[in-house]
Amino acid sequence: MKTGIITGCSRGIGLATATLLSAKAGYKIIGSSTTGEHPLPKPNFHCFKLDLSKSESILDFVRHTKGHTIDFLINNAAVLLEKWDQTAIHPGQLRDTFEVNLFGTIELTELLLPRMAKGGHIINITSEWGSFSEKNFDAYQPHYKLSKAALNMYTKLLSHRLDKAAVTVSSLDPGWTQTDMGGREAPRDPGEVALDIQELLNAKVKTGQFWHRGTIRDW
Ligand SMILES: NC(=O)c1ccc[n+]([C@@H]2O[C@H](COP(=O)([O-])OP(=O)(O)OC[C@H]3O[C@@H](n4cnc5c(N)ncnc54)[C@H](OP(=O)(O)O)[C@@H]3O)[C@@H](O)[C@H]2O)c1
Repeated sequence: MKTGIITGCSRGIGLATATLLSAKAGYKIIGSSTTGEHPLPKPNFHCFKLDLSKSESILDFVRHTKGHTIDFLINNAAVLLEKWDQTAIHPGQLRDTFEVNLFGTIELTELLLPRMAKGGHIINITSEWGSFSEKNFDAYQPHYKLSKAALNMYTKLLSHRLDKAAVTVSSLDPGWTQTDMGGREAPRDPGEVALDIQELLNAKVKTGQFWHRGTIRDW
């Protein structure tokens, strides 16, 4: 039996990934949403309340997962708070974005590290918008981009800190995907990203890499 945690399973990419993986025999999925509500009635899927902007909520969530050794952790939950054409920095919104996308995500990961199984995998869902090598770079969504770039650096730091044979750490850029965050015009379906995540979980890969559609991409 493999146990995996996926944050942000109420909708979008997290829901598609939880749906795909909980349909597999031998998988137990622990998910989260900010309310604890979810649309996935499966016996091997359990969803708990998690607000990554609040330490008490993170601690509560970790308590709910006690007793499980974790084979994979998919840090998927995130917020994009800017308007589509926003380039200005608003310090409050910058903080709110970092609370969820970086600080809370790191706090949760650090609390779960001692319970990661040997051979486990941590996948941080980041974005091309957190990349320094992006060719079509623009100044939009600054807070989100800063938070995802920092999360990519956490992937690198953790991959160097942890025993490489014990836990693999990856970043994954899903590409522009049809969700509440991505909007209706996006070319990718969340189910396709779920398959990318499943493929990365099943592959034996080098730690500390940035993935997109099954291949390593530049940071
Ligand atoms: N969609 C894209 O085009 C795209 C592109 C690149 C990268 N990504 C990344 O892919 C991941 C999934 O994105 P998505 O498009 O599926 O997003 P989404 O549809 O907006 O879903 C976001 C998920 O995060 C949860 N969440 C929001 N605020 C939270 C908080 N404070 N604490 C804990 N959980 C919270 C939501 O829970 P509630 O329902 O309870 O609010 C929801 O389950 C994110 O990391 C995103 O940055 C997306």
